[in-house]
Order: sequence, then structure tokens, then C-alpha cells
Amino acid sequence: MRTLDDLLSEGVRGRRVLVRADLNVPLDGERITDDGRVRASLPTIRALAEAGARVVVTAHLGRPKGEPKPEFSLAPVARRLGELLGAEVAFAADVVGPSAKSTVDGLADGGVALLENVRFDARETSKDDAERGALADELAALVAGDGGPGAFVSDGFGVVHRKQASVYDVAQRLPHYAGGLVLAEVDVLRRLTEDPARPYVVVLGGAKVSDKLGVIANLLTKVDRLVIGGGMAYTFLKAQGHEVGSSLLQEDQLDTVRGFLNTAKERGVELVLPVDVLATTTFAADAEYQVVPADAIPADRMGLDIGPESQKLFASKVADARTVFWNGPMGVFEFEAFAGGTRAVAQALVDGDAFSVVGGGDSAAAVRQLGLPEDGFSHISTGGGASLEFLEGKELPGVAVLED
Ligand code: 3PG
Repeated sequence: MRTLDDLLSEGVRGRRVLVRADLNVPLDGERITDDGRVRASLPTIRALAEAGARVVVTAHLGRPKGEPKPEFSLAPVARRLGELLGAEVAFAADVVGPSAKSTVDGLADGGVALLENVRFDARETSKDDAERGALADELAALVAGDGGPGAFVSDGFGVVHRKQASVYDVAQRLPHYAGGLVLAEVDVLRRLTEDPARPYVVVLGGAKVSDKLGVIANLLTKVDRLVIGGGMAYTFLKAQGHEVGSSLLQEDQLDTVRGFLNTAKERGVELVLPVDVLATTTFAADAEYQVVPADAIPADRMGLDIGPESQKLFASKVADARTVFWNGPMGVFEFEAFAGGTRAVAQALVDGDAFSVVGGGDSAAAVRQLGLPEDGFSHISTGGGASLEFLEGKELPGVAVLED
């Protein structure tokens, strides 16, 4: 796999370089509530700009379903990128149209442009190879010309599990290189899959067990201990025959989850579930709650976080680990009253000496939102779905395409 360093050593002054970044950040109106992904994209963009390349960044925001929608515009992200780079970022108001062409044409050596949300073009996510290919051709054409052949740097780790035009097809059309972020992320995840130091403990949370079926099945063959919290824990508790009240429950996954419980037993994997929960009658930030045993949640109550005994239990299950991967909050951490479980797990990772990896998405945002020190973890991934698919053992199209 050729890397950013290879490209830099070829010389890029005056060359146009297309960079796929993952700038899919949470927004509140036009305010970015967590700019972690923008910051993570800086080193590659900066290295190219400092070497004199004309850097054209393409990225997505949300799922606008193939048409321009103002609430999914990357304009606020262009402003933040410029602030963090300390340089102007030219923003193109379309994906590959007249604005993109004139913006790219206007770049000086060392200049940076960001194209509008690539998912405003329906071809980006099309299942049809020819449709995606047509968009990839146009993206590649944007960087043809000045200062030598165009090049493609894949640096959007959070999206490498998607076979999409700006991730996959464009790499087939341009000399392609893995960016620093993609290399670093893949390196860390390989460490988890190839001979991790033991005990190897995985903590999973988040709302839905159905999003994590593949990864749980695969992890049950690899880990020593699997700790489950968050909304998905209630389907496990129910599968064990417990009353879960009005908590989040995926009835259709009960059989699968019973299978996981059996597999864990057969393989000697310790499966750890909450022993108490904070149970409320309404889903609200200020909801009155009771601490109740996890195996006896009252019929009219729902669990919104793991309880204090579970916090201690989960922390103790992380404390002796030598490798920990954590993905998904333990409760509704966006509500301060129900952030304690997530905070306790994150703190246990910080306090331990394990090689600790935070899977992206909500858990990475939670670390920053709860004010935990980012350097207390060995690695905070930018990829939620991408890191889970890697751990599931799936081939990631956006990485595989860089191999040739
Ligand atoms: C993410 O948020 O995990 C990535 O940006 C990928 O987004 P997607 O799930 O909409 O493809």
C-alpha cells in the first residue's frame, strides 16, 4: 500500500491532490458540537499543503439521500477547518459542478479547498457501479492537470467500510495513497485482532443489539470478557428471562442473543451484564429515577443508565485488562443524570494500564463531552461503523482498494 509519505517523496508542489476525509461531525444548527473528526483530518491536509500541493478535500455530512439539503451543508465545517488550519479554506458550493471547478482552478500552491457534501450527488452512494464510476470520473477530472498527474489520498477512516464513489471508485481512477489517519487507525485495529495482550476485554453499549450482531459473534471467538451495557443490555437481560419493563428491547433479536449467551458459556468467555439500572417512567433529562435490580425492572419503568453497583462491576472488569476496546455509551449520556455509567467506564479505561481503544461515533464524542482527558486513552478512533466492521473481520472496501 502506498502511503502519504510516498506521495510526499514523489513531490507534490503545484500538484492537485484529492483527499477523502471524514468530516461527518455532529451539528446543532450550524454549530459543530464535537470537532474531533475535523481535528483528526488536519495532519494529512496540513502535510500536503505545506509541501505545496493544491489540496481538494471531499467529504460527506449525514445522510442527505442524494440531493442538496441546506442542513447537511459542509459550509460550517469549511469554516472550522480553516480556523484549525490557520489558513483560508475555499468552499465550493457544489460537488463537481461549476463552483467546484472554479474553486479548484483558483487554488494556489499550498491552498486548500473543501467541496460541498459529496452525498448531495446521488451517484456517491449508488449501488450501480457505472453510476458511482461516473461521479468518480468527475472527481478525478477535478484534480487532473496542474503540476503533474492528480493523486488521491484516502484519509476518511470513518467511511472506509462504504463502497462509495469518493471512497472506493475514485481510488481505481487515480494514483492512490493511504493517508496518515487511515494508516494509524488500521494499525491500531490490527493490534486488537492479531494477538492482543490478555486479558482482552471488550465493552459494548449503544441502543441496538442489531447493529452489533456481526461484531459480537466474531468477538466471542477472540475476547476473554465481553461487558454489555447501554440500551442493548436489556435484550440480553430479557433473553436471560428477566423483566425489563418498558426499556429498549429488540424482541426479534432474542433468539440470536440467547445463542450468544450459549456461545459465551461454551467458549468460556465471561459475559458481564448490568446488575442494577437507573429506571424512569419517562424518557427525559430531568426524569425522576429509581435504582432497581437489573433482573426486576418494574413494568412501567425503563432503564436509562447502568446503576452504581454496575458501574463498580464494569470498572473492576476493565481494571485488570491488558487490552480494552470500548464502543457505545452505557446509558443516555446526553442527559447528565444518566451519564454516570458511561463516565465510569471511560474513567476505568483512563485509570487502567491496558492498551485502550475507544471506538468512534458516540463513545468518542462522549469522552470529549464528559471532559475526560483524550490522552488517557491509547487511541480514540474516528470510525464507529468502520472500526466495528474491522473487528468483525470484514474486508473494508476503502482499504482493500488501496492495496493494489
Ligand atoms: C460515521 O459517522 O460513522 C461515518 O461518517 C460514516 O457515515 P455513514 O454511516 O452515514 O456512512
